[in-house]
Amino acid sequence: MKTQRILSGMRPTGRLHLGHYTGALENWVERQNETLADGSRAYETYFLVADYHSLTTSLDTSPLDQNSIEMVTDWLAAGIDPEKSPVFRQSRIKEHTELFLIFSMLITASRLERNPTLKDQIRDLNMDAITYGHLGYPVLQAADILLYKGNTVPVGEDQIPHVEITREIARRFNNQYQHPGTGSVFEEPGPKITRFSRLVGLDGTAKMSKSLGNTILLSDTEEEITAKMRKAVTDTEKLRKNDPGRPEVCAVFSYHKRFTRSQDIDEIEKECRSGALGCVDCKKRCVDSIIRELAPLHEKRAFYADKPGLVRQILEDGEQRARERAQTTMREVREAMRLG
Ligand code: TRP
Repeated sequence: MKTQRILSGMRPTGRLHLGHYTGALENWVERQNETLADGSRAYETYFLVADYHSLTTSLDTSPLDQNSIEMVTDWLAAGIDPEKSPVFRQSRIKEHTELFLIFSMLITASRLERNPTLKDQIRDLNMDAITYGHLGYPVLQAADILLYKGNTVPVGEDQIPHVEITREIARRFNNQYQHPGTGSVFEEPGPKITRFSRLVGLDGTAKMSKSLGNTILLSDTEEEITAKMRKAVTDTEKLRKNDPGRPEVCAVFSYHKRFTRSQDIDEIEKECRSGALGCVDCKKRCVDSIIRELAPLHEKRAFYADKPGLVRQILEDGEQRARERAQTTMREVREAMRLG
């Protein structure tokens, strides 16, 4: 059976929130730990800090280092095991830029202009012009994936168009260049999306996102979560404790659905609808559930926070391992292209 290989990444935005956890990170950890019947690993896993991708929306590089360290600390806290999964910064491995350049010749500008994720971003950020590099965002992502021969890419829904562009680039490369020994260099990665759930933010309207300030961070303490939860928007028509509520429009209930034990969820729903459960008590129970889920993460985070330099060392080790893989792929690419 051919090796299943996962490459995924995030832009370094600093400390991660619950939306990152339920939307991607939890799934990364599950795939990392999944085994086959014979006990061997179901996937080889690589996780990348997409720091070059960050430059598409901000040229200020001063927060990048700290944000990368904070984000990787959250990855490790959530259960990414650096022995199993190399974690590395894109900018430390020069092969990303080399493959990006080659790939940029294999796709038209008009194809990239049609990328719906880019269109959404231009609208959301009110951009009136974009850079050449920003237009090439998915091309760099294709280089990230194919440099490690990733054939499974667990990402959120907004990234599906980028996986599709990656498939097109792989196909185009294989049609144009064949390796004298091994034939096709790349495999088209499957757009395999596993169960992903976006979390709504504490404001109850938009998805959880750092820029909207509606997040619960994975590193938040019980006190911090309690204070944030107090301000969380519930059913706006449930004004008094005993008014009947509508769980389906309530952000807090959506967190219960994800974090509370299933046997308790029905009761919460029923008591909210009947008016027996007030929002204050309901929120308390929700904080308890979230804290129960995050307790092991907090413990691991404290372990890493206690050892300055360890996260950097883990990155450097991951970078060494990733670089070797990347160099092997680039050698094949150059041979297929007769570039020596
Ligand atoms: N574009 C992804 C995001 O914004 C981050 C990313 C960069 C990525 N390179 C990747 C994701 C490779 C998957 C595979 O979330």
